[in-house]
Amino acid sequence: MSQEVRGIVAMAKGEPVSMQTIIIPDPGPGEAVVKVQACGVCHTDLHYREGGINDEFPFLLGHEAAGIVESVGEGVTQVAPGDYVILNWRAVCGECRSCLKGKPQYCFDTHNATQKMTLADGTELSPALGIGAFCDKTLVAAGQCTKVDPAAKPEAAGLLGCGVMAGIGAAINTGEVGRGDTVAVFGCGGVGNAAIEGSRIAGAAKIIAVDIDDAKLELAKTFGATHTVNSSKVDPVETIRGFTDGNGVDVAIEAIGLPQTYEQAFYARDLAGTVVLVGVPNPEMKIELPYIEMFGRGGALKSSWYGDCLPSRDFPMLIDLYLQGRLNLDGFVSETIELDQVEEAFHKMEGGGVLRSVVVL
Ligand SMILES: NC(=O)c1ccc[n+]([C@@H]2O[C@H](COP(=O)([O-])OP(=O)(O)OC[C@H]3O[C@@H](n4cnc5c(N)ncnc54)[C@H](O)[C@@H]3O)[C@@H](O)[C@H]2O)c1
Ligand SMILES: [Zn+2]
Ligand SMILES: [Zn+2]
Repeated sequence: MSQEVRGIVAMAKGEPVSMQTIIIPDPGPGEAVVKVQACGVCHTDLHYREGGINDEFPFLLGHEAAGIVESVGEGVTQVAPGDYVILNWRAVCGECRSCLKGKPQYCFDTHNATQKMTLADGTELSPALGIGAFCDKTLVAAGQCTKVDPAAKPEAAGLLGCGVMAGIGAAINTGEVGRGDTVAVFGCGGVGNAAIEGSRIAGAAKIIAVDIDDAKLELAKTFGATHTVNSSKVDPVETIRGFTDGNGVDVAIEAIGLPQTYEQAFYARDLAGTVVLVGVPNPEMKIELPYIEMFGRGGALKSSWYGDCLPSRDFPMLIDLYLQGRLNLDGFVSETIELDQVEEAFHKMEGGGVLRSVVVL
């Protein structure tokens, strides 16, 4: 028996989102229905609404969520009804050429639910990042559910489902930040602050936060930034060199997605250092760098999708650190809101005042 629930939908490009009745089918083979308990509002939801991702309206928004598995379809063994889970948007297939090479974190064929959720009139919905969790319940592939310790509050745990994992993973997985390293993070929004937090738990000796907004830099200190740079007032490259004996940092993380800040990250790193791009550029952007500098500085230029995370490996580990008081997830929850306040949360995001508004159901 399919069921009717409430959900937040972007019906058309640029139009305010609205609450709609959503029809959730029973889970088929390999699928699960999850009762959503909390879901963070991410920039990507706004990108969908603005038509910046694709034109497959209507979109069922929301993708940073935690909840309880309500029912599972045939053949599902990894989760069972009653399990407390974080939803992920990269359920690895186990069969593609990357998975077979032993690198499932780069899986090239990640899974979503096969059946469609619809509006009451039968119109098929496109769930944001294959999740769609601004609703009472959602249908996902069972592999999108990662079981974690239920002692973790859903509004904090759900954030690992996207931006916070992307930032932590950019530092610990992609950048391989280690004990004693020096790190600079460009952009201190949710993702950048998570990269700062990730660098802190990895044991970095110096963590330099770079932003153009002093309020964001103050926040960065609460996550573990040891130095801050307002790059609208001083030259960030020179300042970072000044903090690192004239050398630059071991790992420079770009968490904005702009050519000029990528260039700053490129020059702010030490010889043989690593640049990690986690900010998402838009398709028109181009970057020009002296080719000889790319060679002469050595090291690595890397991109980080979803923090190169493996949900089954990383989510339970990070939740354990959170429950032990060693990972500050609560700091990312700027406010909790009702399901019908997502549009309002988008405006707050544009104003820059919050790291995350989180819908609690
Ligand atoms: N790679 C991934 O898997 C992944 C996942 C989620 C988000 N992202 C991307 O990460 C980026 C950051 O996301 P967010 O949610 O933290 O965004 P955000 O808007 O909350 O934060 C961006 C920060 O950058 C600062 N900033 C803007 N222009 C700047 C400049 N010229 N110099 C220095 N600082 C500047 C802003 O003041 C703000 O603090 C976005 O591009 C987002 O799409 C990537
Ligand atoms: Zn795969
Ligand atoms: Zn997101």
